[in-house]
Amino acid sequence: MAAAARVTLADVYRAHERIMPYIHKTPVFTNATFDKLIGRNAFFKAENLQKTGSFKARGALNAVMSLRERNANAAGVVTHSTGNHGQALAWAAQTVGLKCAVIVPRDTPQVKKDAITSYGAELVLCEPTPQSRQETCQRVAEEQGLEFVPPFDHHDVIAGQGTIGMELLKQAPDLDAILVPVSGGGMASGIAIAAKAMKPDIKIYLVEAEGKMCEKSLRAGERLWPNPPQFVDTIADAIRTQQLGNMTWPILLKYAEKDVFTISDADMIKGMKFAFERMKLVIEAASGAAVVAAMSDKLAAMDKDMKNIGVILCGGNVDIDKLPWY
Ligand SMILES: Cc1ncc(COP(=O)(O)O)c(C=O)c1O
Repeated sequence: MAAAARVTLADVYRAHERIMPYIHKTPVFTNATFDKLIGRNAFFKAENLQKTGSFKARGALNAVMSLRERNANAAGVVTHSTGNHGQALAWAAQTVGLKCAVIVPRDTPQVKKDAITSYGAELVLCEPTPQSRQETCQRVAEEQGLEFVPPFDHHDVIAGQGTIGMELLKQAPDLDAILVPVSGGGMASGIAIAAKAMKPDIKIYLVEAEGKMCEKSLRAGERLWPNPPQFVDTIADAIRTQQLGNMTWPILLKYAEKDVFTISDADMIKGMKFAFERMKLVIEAASGAAVVAAMSDKLAAMDKDMKNIGVILCGGNVDIDKLPWY
């Protein structure tokens, strides 16, 4: 990783200063029933209640604001994510008055297109292939002079996501470990950089969907994913990217524990249901994965001295007409 690209705790603090006026300082919830069940204390960081419904608002806004600081005449930003990052970037650009274009495959569900346009972004349709997405994104960036903001492999995105870890450790300073859902790894990298700098003994555990294979790669010390990267088949549409990024991989190899929590769709639903029924929190399947990791036999078998566990409820964007248990 190039030295210039290294993200530090100072970058995370700077990101927090930038974005704080616009984002929510999300609450940390506890639940006595849950604690009894797992025999430890869980601290749920409710990013499902964040602006745009996921933590993605943090990284996207930091990237947009940082771009404007570097270039007062910046025309705007572009990305090709139809999920939480696309919505978050559209919101971030609108918040600071910059233009945003989001490239979406023609077959993207209307509800997702509507969410993006509701934040004032221009939708540009492409063919439903990764190649068409990238080519269209590059063309639009060149034609309109827009800067590409990728969903995870980006200095300011990682620093922005790191503000979750910094905030959480201020809200719950006695944490021994944090469970973080992972896809491209931007959130986990940011949280790990912040948390390890603030509390070097803290453990960062990745939570992945089945098929992602982080544990195997971390144990081997090399990326064992197929090339080109695939999407894993899971109900958790936010964490389908199989491969960690070029920036996020070395960060997580350095900071994340080698034990990874691999969660099936059926178990993610259990986690979602617990949050809906017992905590009255609407969370999406990626968050359900973190909840159920905290309830898992794997965690139960770990060191009992690890008493206080942070659980990142990363997002709450569910289609309530298509809840996965119906
Ligand atoms: C709700 C939610 N959780 C987790 C993730 C994973 O984040 P990352 O790609 O930074 O690992 C995403 C990514 O889109 C997300 O939207």
